[in-house]
Amino acid sequence: MQRLSFIALLVVFSTNLFSQSPHGSGLTIDCAQCHNPSGWELDLETMSFDHNETNFDLEGAHLQTDCKSCHNNLIFDRAPNDCFSCHVDVHQQSVGNDCMRCHTSDSWLVFEIPELHEQNGFPLIGAHSNLSCVECHTTESSLVFNRMGNECIECHRSEYLATQNPNHVAAGFSQDCTECHSPLGFGWDAENIIHDFFPLTMGHDIQDCSACHTGGNFSDTPTDCFACHMDDYASTSNPNHQAAGFSTDCVQCHTTNPGWMPATFDHDELFFPIYSGRHDDVWTNCTDCHTNPNNYSIFTCLNCHPAGQTAEEHDGVSGYMYESNACLACHPNGEG
Ligand code: HEC
Ligand code: HEC
Ligand code: HEC
Ligand code: HEC
Ligand code: HEC
Ligand code: HEC
Ligand code: HEC
Ligand code: HEC
Ligand code: HEC
Ligand code: HEC
Ligand code: HEC
Ligand code: HEC
Ligand code: HEC
Repeated sequence: MQRLSFIALLVVFSTNLFSQSPHGSGLTIDCAQCHNPSGWELDLETMSFDHNETNFDLEGAHLQTDCKSCHNNLIFDRAPNDCFSCHVDVHQQSVGNDCMRCHTSDSWLVFEIPELHEQNGFPLIGAHSNLSCVECHTTESSLVFNRMGNECIECHRSEYLATQNPNHVAAGFSQDCTECHSPLGFGWDAENIIHDFFPLTMGHDIQDCSACHTGGNFSDTPTDCFACHMDDYASTSNPNHQAAGFSTDCVQCHTTNPGWMPATFDHDELFFPIYSGRHDDVWTNCTDCHTNPNNYSIFTCLNCHPAGQTAEEHDGVSGYMYESNACLACHPNGEG
């Protein structure tokens, strides 16, 4: 019975349908997909029309939205597709028209703020991790995110100009702060300075910058070893460098190896193999050979090669003499 009266109503409908339709002539969907015989009001519960078959999916808050809010003239295909056509761009064009880059139709809240900054090449880390948005986004509206650039100097120019210790302007420091300051840090210490111009390795791996940059002065720092290690040179005893007439060009013999050991001068190549070959590890002090620490041109072989045994080893060797210079002459490398 119910079913019958429904069909009857539909027939009444169909007779005058198109003349009654407010949806324009383009609509090809059957009226019954949306309307039922009880009136033109829609009943969303029983409606068989599926909006997701149009070219605009209804999701999130749009599912609760009245059809007429979007289709105010009821000519369905005239509804604009773009978010910005229906929603005011509260950002005043500062982030572009692609609202979906940050928003969905669920709500206007944005949860991916950290990711957004990463994508912009400006992760909110270190000193920047717990600031309020408006400390950086200083436009009048807190919703306008005008471009300001990622360069440190853009936001820290006044600090740069005001530096005293050291005075960056006077020292001619680069305006690329990251050369010396880490964005991971929480203050302006320059711990992560890339000190490649004078590598801080081994004995120079010193956290206290003032050990070399005395008085907070970062310019005019000498690079010559002797300038900083004069006293070390003067107080050497083993060997006594001054007496031995060693060059003050420390790098001839030293690296920054802690304790100045080992001296990496090329004794082996220049004079006599003592760090390689048969005499590696057989001596303790330079004075084992250089009996006069004040004159390294003096040396002896005889301390360790006793006369009797050595003579035996030279049975039949013509020109053999038990004398150090002679030993060296025939055994310049200390080999047999
Ligand atoms: C895709 C769904 C859909 C289809 C199909 C559809 N309508 Fe509608 N119709 C609506 C909606 C939505 C309204 C507005 C309802 C409201 O006011 O709440 C409406 C309203 C109406 C109204 C009332 C107009 C007014 O000013 O209140 C008439 C008359 C109407 N439709 C006729 C038709 C006819 C005739 C057809 C078939 C040719 C048809 N509709 C097909 C969705 C549809
Ligand atoms: C949030 C906005 C919004 C709401 C709410 C909404 N629509 Fe739409 N609808 C659109 C947009 C946008 C389109 C795509 C228009 C186009 O490009 O064709 C569309 C397309 C359609 C189409 C297909 C038009 C065509 O011929 O291509 C129909 C029919 C339609 N809507 C009916 C409805 C009905 C019925 C409701 C309520 C149940 C509804 N819409 C609710 C935004 C909305
Ligand atoms: C055809 C018009 C139309 C289009 C296109 C449209 N919306 Fe909507 N949207 C509405 C209407 C109407 C409402 C409900 C009224 C309101 O809250 O503004 C709504 C509501 C919302 C809400 C809920 C607002 C709240 O206060 O809870 C969000 C979020 C939203 N839309 C996001 C979007 C996004 C993102 C897009 C693009 C993908 C989009 N809308 C596209 C018309 C549209
Ligand atoms: C780059 C990211 C981004 C884009 C693109 C973007 N928004 Fe937003 N939008 C935001 C952020 C961030 C907020 C603040 C959200 C919060 O506090 O959680 C916001 C908030 C909003 C709000 C809520 C304002 C309020 O008073 O709370 C609306 C409305 C809005 N956006 C609309 C849009 C529209 C329309 C577009 C496209 C024209 C758009 N947005 C594009 C990031 C964006
Ligand atoms: C320490 C500074 C800083 C803080 C704090 C900060 N931002 Fe940003 N933000 C930036 C920088 C730098 C960019 C990169 C783009 C540019 O040049 O403006 C940016 C970009 C953005 C963008 C645009 C992204 C795009 O892709 O278009 C939005 C939106 C944004 N920030 C929102 C926020 C919100 C919301 C907060 C607070 C939760 C916040 N920001 C806190 C510095 C900051
Ligand atoms: C978009 C603006 C912006 C950019 C770009 C920016 N900062 Fe900041 N930074 C701030 C704000 C705002 C603060 C917090 C207020 C303050 O202390 O000056 C801050 C704080 C800091 C602090 C802490 C200062 C202190 O006294 O504790 C350091 C260090 C810092 N930033 C380093 C950097 C470095 C390095 C860069 C480049 C990689 C950079 N900043 C880029 C805005 C910015
Ligand atoms: C060549 C290396 C170098 C560069 C480049 C550099 N700084 Fe520094 N900065 C230093 C050193 C070294 C210190 C002292 C660190 C310490 O005492 O631990 C310092 C300290 C500071 C201080 C605190 C000292 C003071 O007098 O206020 C601020 C602020 C500062 N720098 C800002 C900047 C900014 C902003 C930039 C980029 C525009 C920058 N610096 C670029 C090396 C540099
Ligand atoms: C072992 C000694 C030594 C230590 C330790 C040291 N430096 Fe240096 N630093 C030098 C020397 C030498 C120069 C000069 C390099 C040149 O002129 O080529 C220099 C130059 C600099 C400069 C000037 C770069 C320029 O562009 O003019 C800065 C800035 C600097 N150092 C920062 C630091 C900071 C910050 C620390 C602590 C983390 C530090 N230094 C620790 C020896 C040192
Ligand atoms: C700007 C000053 C400065 C310059 C230039 C300099 N040094 Fe140093 N050096 C220091 C300071 C400060 C220390 C740590 C304190 C100390 O042990 O004397 C140090 C430590 C050392 C040590 C470790 C000493 C130990 O007892 O462990 C060696 C080795 C060394 N330097 C070698 C060199 C050599 C080689 C050069 C030349 C390439 C050189 N230094 C240039 C300042 C300097
Ligand atoms: C001709 C090579 C040579 C030169 C040049 C040289 N040294 Fe040495 N130095 C040595 C040797 C060899 C040792 C002993 C290391 C070992 O036993 O491995 C030594 C050891 C030292 C020691 C530790 C021994 C002690 O008595 O305290 C210091 C300090 C030292 N040198 C400082 C310097 C300084 C500073 C310079 C430059 C101004 C310098 N040296 C230049 C060869 C040299
Ligand atoms: C096993 C023996 C031996 C030991 C140990 C030894 N030397 Fe020598 N050294 C020699 C010989 C041999 C020569 C070459 C002398 C010559 O050609 O007149 C020489 C030459 C030198 C010279 C060049 C002297 C000059 O004026 O021509 C210096 C400097 C020197 N040694 C430093 C050292 C130092 C420093 C040590 C300890 C780290 C050391 N030697 C350990 C055997 C040794
Ligand atoms: C500190 C002690 C010491 C001094 C000083 C010393 N030698 Fe030796 N020498 C040795 C020892 C120990 C061996 C045996 C090494 C082995 O068997 O591997 C040796 C081996 C030799 C050999 C034999 C190598 C072989 O192939 O069997 C020759 C040649 C030699 N020394 C020459 C010299 C000359 C030349 C000098 C002086 C410039 C000298 N030695 C100074 C300890 C010394
Ligand atoms: C005129 C050249 C000459 C002189 C001077 C000389 N040697 Fe020799 N020495 C030789 C010859 C040749 C051999 C035999 C080499 C062989 O058997 O391969 C030899 C053998 C040796 C050996 C044994 C090598 C082995 O392989 O067993 C030692 C140790 C040695 N000499 C050390 C010395 C010492 C120390 C002096 C100085 C006191 C010295 N020599 C002086 C030429 C000389």
